[in-house]
Amino acid sequence: MYSEKVMDHFQNPRNVGEIENASGVGTVGNAKCGDIMRMYLDIDENGVIRDCKFKTFGCGAAVATSSMATELVKGKTVQEALQVTNKAVMDALDGLPPVKVHCSLLAEEAIHAALWDYAEKHGIKIEGLQKPKSDIHEGEEEDEEEY
Ligand code: FES
Repeated sequence: MYSEKVMDHFQNPRNVGEIENASGVGTVGNAKCGDIMRMYLDIDENGVIRDCKFKTFGCGAAVATSSMATELVKGKTVQEALQVTNKAVMDALDGLPPVKVHCSLLAEEAIHAALWDYAEKHGIKIEGLQKPKSDIHEGEEEDEEEY
């Protein structure tokens, strides 16, 4: 059911932890499954992501997608990091079962939330970055819940 890469990133997740005084921190959750993901970014003065760490309280696919997402954004500029979509994360993991696609959305959303936090703290605007939702509902529900 899961690719070898998913199993590898689930069993040996990369970049688990926190970054003290991070440039940006984003926390997102999915109300349905209750999983929560937090992403920390360390961004240098040129807007390059020096380091990225995560903490995920969630399913195996959420752990694997956040692990892969941290690997993908490291070394990228904030603008390039926007290209690390859930699709890019899934592709890098050789796919996910359909019921687990929302887990990869959480990873994309966590990166965006951390970038948003960085932009707000530094008073800058990142072209193409939307204000993150605090919750992901895969579109079946109308309301956005704040927490
Ligand atoms: Fe919800 Fe994976 S089951 S993030």
